[in-house]
Amino acid sequence: MEIQTREEVSLEVQLEQAESFLRQCYSELEKSPAELNRRIEAVHKELSLTGTYIHTAEELTHGSRMAWRHNSRCIGRLFWHTLEVLDARQAETAPQVAEALFRHLERAGNGGRIRPVMTVFRSGTEPGRAIRIWNHQLIRYAGYPGQDEQPRSGDPASDAFTAVCRELGWQGSGGDFDVLPLVISIGDEPPSWFTIPEALVQEVPLSHPEIEQFGGLGLRWYAVPVVSDMLLGIGGIRYPAAPFNGWYMETEIGSRNLGDTGRYNRLPAVADLLGLDRSTNTSLWKDRALLELNRAVLHSFKLAGVSIVDHHTAADQFVRFQEQERQKGREVSGKWHWLIPPMSPSSTPIWEDNKLRELNFSPRLIYQKPAFSGRNSSPPPDETSMKCPFHR
Ligand code: ARG
Repeated sequence: MEIQTREEVSLEVQLEQAESFLRQCYSELEKSPAELNRRIEAVHKELSLTGTYIHTAEELTHGSRMAWRHNSRCIGRLFWHTLEVLDARQAETAPQVAEALFRHLERAGNGGRIRPVMTVFRSGTEPGRAIRIWNHQLIRYAGYPGQDEQPRSGDPASDAFTAVCRELGWQGSGGDFDVLPLVISIGDEPPSWFTIPEALVQEVPLSHPEIEQFGGLGLRWYAVPVVSDMLLGIGGIRYPAAPFNGWYMETEIGSRNLGDTGRYNRLPAVADLLGLDRSTNTSLWKDRALLELNRAVLHSFKLAGVSIVDHHTAADQFVRFQEQERQKGREVSGKWHWLIPPMSPSSTPIWEDNKLRELNFSPRLIYQKPAFSGRNSSPPPDETSMKCPFHR
């Protein structure tokens, strides 16, 4: 099911969603009842007259922070209130959007001391109007499936999007770590693509604290993960372009991106470097390779002065977040199998938590219909709807 366009949502529902957001937002910001009531009244008027309403900068910032706090898959939510929100609602053309995305990368990258940032572009999901960023993340590596004699290269998760970029005229080197261009569309207009200036793409070459030859594997990863294909919903207003970033947890890179067989699949290469016996499972070569690969990621990011968190610290921080929310009298929405880290999960406190449930909170970040078809990283169809997760 696709997300409803605004026309399909009745005025009554819009008023209700706006009011419920304003009540929660203003109460968290400790605003006076008088101010809240004035604002609700003004929004009612604006909605009835124009069919939409415009968030104040303060509502946009706090609403975006709430959306992070509500994201059931994120282990890093202890820092939700530190999110910096860049208001880019004035951007209308693709070059203006690209310019704002470059500013996002600069602000977030901060020379390695990564800042959590979200850039919000104007609302509007109607066909013919929506601003869409086609990239899954602002910075990501191209994937080339390979042909005939030619072996595959790059990130398999990017194969479909890379094909789109090439059709648009972008040319990669065909290597394992080609940074993809930004692809932006406004409404029904054909998309435009933009090369990201090199100075804005921080990368970390991977080395290992003890194994000198590790660098010879030629592995690297980028510093800042900026998820750019989700829709931000605040008080009934939908922002289809609202890229956001935190810093990495090392397992995202070491266990999944470089370790998964469907991604870079580098565990065999690491195991061979370590001289492990790959002829039998009982040597636990995969586990040992995973461990050393994750250590290399942590070591290299530290060495490069780029923020990163290990999965034990992140899990402890998540428990502190739960505690903090309990004290505020709020429930925590959580998806257990996303929150446990993909290495040694049973050694973290989240493993034993059998109370985690996904709750239908708002504001929130939502999967939306992919901006281009044939995309291999598209979520299962039921997650593209705005329906309650319990009533699929
Ligand atoms: N897991 C994704 C990746 O490896 C990034 C998702 C966001 N991660 C984060 N730490 N904020 O690229």
